Amino acid sequence: MLRGNRELWWAIGVGILITIVYGAVVFFTRAIPAAGDLFGHGLGIFGFLLMLMTETLYSLRKRTRNASWGRMSSWLQFHIFTGLVGPYMVLLHTSWKFNGLAGAVTLLTVVIVASGIVGRYIYTRIPRTLDGLEIEGTLSESALRQARQLMALWHTVHIPIGMALFVSAFIHMGAALYYATLLK
Ligand code: HEM
Ligand code: HEM
Repeated sequence: MLRGNRELWWAIGVGILITIVYGAVVFFTRAIPAAGDLFGHGLGIFGFLLMLMTETLYSLRKRTRNASWGRMSSWLQFHIFTGLVGPYMVLLHTSWKFNGLAGAVTLLTVVIVASGIVGRYIYTRIPRTLDGLEIEGTLSESALRQARQLMALWHTVHIPIGMALFVSAFIHMGAALYYATLLK
């Protein structure tokens, strides 16, 4: 079971720190950090690494069923933390320009975060143990069935968006590095 909103507060705290650093860079350079310059590029790479962790780690833990790797609820909390901070860094990386494929990758990123927030609330409607296993009998049968169906439907939306996002992000990285970095 996910309890409280600790991961959300951590994400907001780290988000504020990143905003302060970003604000300081804008203040001292008197410019929006370009996506291909050291700071903007760093935000893109680091944010993308966090997103890649979001995409893979929780799923790996979910499939091992090995409790010694840490509780599922902690991995989901980490998933939500990296799933909010990573996209925020990537958003600052864009330099507020959203042309072409990179713009589409940004849109997919916004959609997956929004979908994650919705999924988090459906997920907590199903009573679970700390290891994410469902507990029978605490909800009426029909309410439980409804929540499970909703969760299954949500997975069929959230997972393909994630895949489309990473395929297009890799193409963006290849193209951006080739045209903006190597051909400079
Ligand atoms: C999901 C992750 C990412 C998203 C959503 C994203 C999005 C964007 C956007 C919207 C732009 C601005 C495009 C424009 O000028 O209209 C951009 C530029 C750029 N991105 Fe990313 N980016 C991501 C990850 C990365 C990563 C990991 C790298 C490096 C390996 C990277 C390298 C670049 C470079 C070099 C530019 C500048 C291109 C230029 O100056 O024309 N991006 N990105
Ligand atoms: C970069 C952003 C994100 C990506 C790429 C991403 C990707 C994924 C993937 C691939 C899964 C499927 C895990 C599995 O069943 O194997 C998943 C599940 C989930 N994600 Fe995300 N996610 C992101 C952000 C978020 C955010 C911001 C939240 C919440 C605020 C969130 C909440 C959830 C929840 C509740 C589940 C379902 C857990 C379960 O059914 O076991 N995600 N996510």
